[in-house]
Amino acid sequence: MKHITLPAGVLFLLMFTGVSHAASSTLMKQANQFFKPLPKVMESPENPITPAKVKLGKMLFYETRLSLDGTVSCEKCHMFGLYGTDGLKKSIAADCKVAPRNAPTVLNAAGQISEHWTGNMKDVEEQAGKAMSNMPGGNYTDVVAKLEHIKGYVKLFKDAFPHDKSPVSIHNIGLAIGAFERTLVTPSPFDAYLRGDEHALTQEQKEGLKTFIDTGCIQCHNGAYVGGMIYMKFGVFAPYWKYTKSKKIDKGRYELTKNKADLYVFKVPELRNVAMTSPYFHDGSVERLGDAVRIMAKVQLNKDLSKDEIKKIVSFLGSLTGTMSQYALTVPVLPQEQ
Ligand code: HEC
Ligand code: HEC
Repeated sequence: MKHITLPAGVLFLLMFTGVSHAASSTLMKQANQFFKPLPKVMESPENPITPAKVKLGKMLFYETRLSLDGTVSCEKCHMFGLYGTDGLKKSIAADCKVAPRNAPTVLNAAGQISEHWTGNMKDVEEQAGKAMSNMPGGNYTDVVAKLEHIKGYVKLFKDAFPHDKSPVSIHNIGLAIGAFERTLVTPSPFDAYLRGDEHALTQEQKEGLKTFIDTGCIQCHNGAYVGGMIYMKFGVFAPYWKYTKSKKIDKGRYELTKNKADLYVFKVPELRNVAMTSPYFHDGSVERLGDAVRIMAKVQLNKDLSKDEIKKIVSFLGSLTGTMSQYALTVPVLPQEQ
């Protein structure tokens, strides 16, 4: 057997990198127990994604003619340049009516158990079919009549729903927009990390990931979307409004069910792209991500995080900022009336 003698410095270096590698690999394994990389698209057996549906759905997403006064489209409140949100505390519809809640991102939203802060919409298809109520004057029969007068749309609906006798319908608007939303997946450095790339996260992000796990955030924020899978009370240990300074107290799912157990219960939001979707919480009451993290630890887990821990978690959350497909970002040319 041949012995190779290495200088002490090199040996030390080997040991050192060996140790740090082993330590982060444990973290990577742990992370893979709680999280999953994003899927390529968010499939639904009830609404298979086809190129024709996605093409139509994207146009409808940008289509202001879905609102009767022709001023509001989905994209007005879910702008891709703002990571699928509108940057407002609460959205404003075309008649200047303020929406009761903050607009969550549409990116990676289709994979959640349900849609909206209270989960009152089963899926993106139902949500899209009904979202026109966010658009003033959204009288459904009128919208269908309007689209049926636009030849370009009639063809697009026929292509997307070839077996339907009357393809232009509210139901199919929901399916088409839903299919488009199911493609809005934004892979990020965190996905690369989960797939085995140690260098995808910075040291600080790794420490933040560990703090996120050890503090207990993963009890509610886990899976591919880092949330979006369960309903939980906002304010397990203290009334949330004491910390968020919310002016109006939103009762959450109680408003749907009138069941006392649902008081202040909301869908745990997904945290994909969260660094880019300020302001935070159902009422947009908190502007800075660091404050949202501090409040979460306090009211959900009864823990006081140090400034350093908050900084690390915020840094980790930054690794959830992903890339959008160029396709979704390109503004479509919409069919014109002739
Ligand atoms: C006037 C602004 C506005 C318009 C226009 C609008 N939305 Fe929204 N959207 C919101 C608000 C506010 C919420 C949160 C509602 C709630 O939870 O009560 C929301 C929620 C959603 C959600 C749920 C996301 C989640 O994580 O739960 C999806 C998906 C969505 N909208 C898609 C659409 C689509 C598709 C359209 C067009 C058909 C549309 N929105 C039009 C403001 C708007
Ligand atoms: C017991 C469940 C639970 C735990 C534990 C928990 N969260 Fe949350 N989180 C929620 C719920 C519910 C909301 C939605 C609150 C609302 O109504 O706005 C939320 C919202 C958030 C938001 C705002 C997202 C947005 O888009 O507005 C962030 C950021 C967040 N959590 C981070 C964390 C961090 C970091 C931890 C650990 C310190 C944590 N959460 C622990 C349930 C939880």
